Amino acid sequence: MKKLFLILSLISFSSFANEASQDALTTSALHPKQMKWEFDNPFGRFDRASIQRGFQVYKEVCSACHGLKLVSYRNLAEIGFSKEEVKQIASEYSVTDGPNDDGEMFDRPGLPSDKFVGPYANEQAARSANGGALPPDLSLIVKARHDGPNYVYSLLTSYADAPDEFHMNEGKYYNPYFEGRQISMPAPISDDGQVEYKDGTYATKEQVIIDIVNFLQWAAEPETEHRKKMGVRTMIFLGALFLILIAAKKAVWKKIK
Ligand code: HEC
Repeated sequence: MKKLFLILSLISFSSFANEASQDALTTSALHPKQMKWEFDNPFGRFDRASIQRGFQVYKEVCSACHGLKLVSYRNLAEIGFSKEEVKQIASEYSVTDGPNDDGEMFDRPGLPSDKFVGPYANEQAARSANGGALPPDLSLIVKARHDGPNYVYSLLTSYADAPDEFHMNEGKYYNPYFEGRQISMPAPISDDGQVEYKDGTYATKEQVIIDIVNFLQWAAEPETEHRKKMGVRTMIFLGALFLILIAAKKAVWKKIK
């Protein structure tokens, strides 16, 4: 009996010691930091200036590796770009079209009706340029991840050195918000001033990351604002209807009394 007790206590002690030393080795992801986003509140509106800056970040940084294939250039009009600006932006891209009358594919400048042109011709090309990992299309990324906006914010702000005992694989970067804590994407936004904003806003690292999240939220859910507006109108309508019904009820019962 004594022996059994000894063995049991040894087992529980060793598992306790194990747990303690695993702390630095843990690979499960942290819960995203909770940020206050303008689009989150019930009367939420999009911050258009921020979304426009976020588009600049996407264009100058993220689009080197990530596509945005569900968004068309003309959608940019919704965030405040003029028709001329949209045309100009689209025309900077080269779109493969065709076949023409000779059965050949050909390249032409992009049109507002085109979807965003991605950086790679196919998945294999994308993987081979990124050490085997696939940079996902960003059109729906904030919807595809739990607590998306906070997750993307946390991920981009939290690259760090790995703890000493942590085993890092070749070509990976330590990031506690990514499942497994090592990611194949090098920190895309690492310094203040990495982007030079056209609207004159100083691009701190924090500002750039907030702007790209605002942009990705709009890209994934452009109808957010409209939906919220309808929600508020519906509540006002129901409130008014309620008051009218009460008044009507009073009027009807008054006669009977
Ligand atoms: C040099 C190429 C490169 C650039 C530039 C880049 N990424 Fe990535 N990104 C990747 C790769 C590769 C992955 C896949 C990582 C993996 O699976 O380990 C990835 C994954 C992601 C993910 C998904 C993480 C997940 O949960 O699966 C998000 C979100 C992301 N990138 C956002 C961005 C944003 C926003 C930018 C621009 C600010 C950006 N990336 C710039 C290569 C890049």
